Amino acid sequence: MRHFIVVGVLIIVMAFATYFGLTSLGLMPVAASAQAGSISQAGSIDWMWNLQMIAMSFLFALIAVPIGYSLIMFRRKKGDTTDAEHIEGNTALEITWTVVPLFIVVAFAYFGAYSLSETLRADPNAMVIKVMARQWSWSFEYPQAGVISNELYLPVGKQVLLKMESPLDGVLHSFFVPEFRMKQDVVPGRVTEYRVTPTLEGSYKVRCAELCGTSHYNMESPVNVVSQKNFDAWLNARQVEAQAAKTPEGAGQLLVAANGCTGCHSLDGKAGVGPTWQDLFNSQVKLADGSTVTADEAYLTESIAAPNAKVVEGFQPAMPQYPFTPEEIANLVAYIQTLK
Ligand code: CUA
Repeated sequence: MRHFIVVGVLIIVMAFATYFGLTSLGLMPVAASAQAGSISQAGSIDWMWNLQMIAMSFLFALIAVPIGYSLIMFRRKKGDTTDAEHIEGNTALEITWTVVPLFIVVAFAYFGAYSLSETLRADPNAMVIKVMARQWSWSFEYPQAGVISNELYLPVGKQVLLKMESPLDGVLHSFFVPEFRMKQDVVPGRVTEYRVTPTLEGSYKVRCAELCGTSHYNMESPVNVVSQKNFDAWLNARQVEAQAAKTPEGAGQLLVAANGCTGCHSLDGKAGVGPTWQDLFNSQVKLADGSTVTADEAYLTESIAAPNAKVVEGFQPAMPQYPFTPEEIANLVAYIQTLK
């Protein structure tokens, strides 16, 4: 009897020590969604996780303590060569270790189902964002605004419904933001849903959690949870950008930004590695060979398509040949025309 009391006390001590040891390790990143919740919010993912930690700690103690105790207290004494006592069975014990775990497993099934239903609880006013998962990038479409972005912006405190797709000729991916706790597969030819209510402003990352090829490890995008005001401002700016891209000069401006052209060509008259673009259109340009040309559309087009065909006086033929399409070059020329 003394052994049972000692082992019982040791199990309780060991269970607490294991639980507090595990929870002090900081195994989880910050919780940033209503679904993640907290250990005191019944039905949330962190609450469920905490229950599992309690069960794991207790089960670990329940197994490890009796083994360790027996190894020390009941080890073979010096010179003792007798066999151990033969035990045929113990019906009461067997019923106990069948019925008790059965109740625990059924209880966890219930808690799990409850937690899942809380996690999937739908807000009918949730904002819909379309997610496209490609090898190996994410893109996010805000259909009401006509905006497509490589970064996911979410307003804090509002539920969003992500409708996620992978191209028909694509592969499986998995949308995983550890701070939101939830993970959902993205399947070619199917639309999977992911509901999240961000609760904490901050910058997180969506990572692909399904091995999807060479750059799987690198398939991540910023996830920014911002105030409603900042979200509206961001969406507005993207909307203006999307609108601008519909005109040739707007598309040209985006190309310039994307290719870093202004690293060499200033827009304010200063000479850089290359000539400035301010007031360039229709101006007279002196070339290295002493001749003069008018910077008309034909000249600009040629200078982008074949940078070294005409070199401007005072500059090195340093511009690389970019693989622009004729349409892109026309857009660039249209943009340069607007620079006064
Ligand atoms: Cu996409 Cu891994």
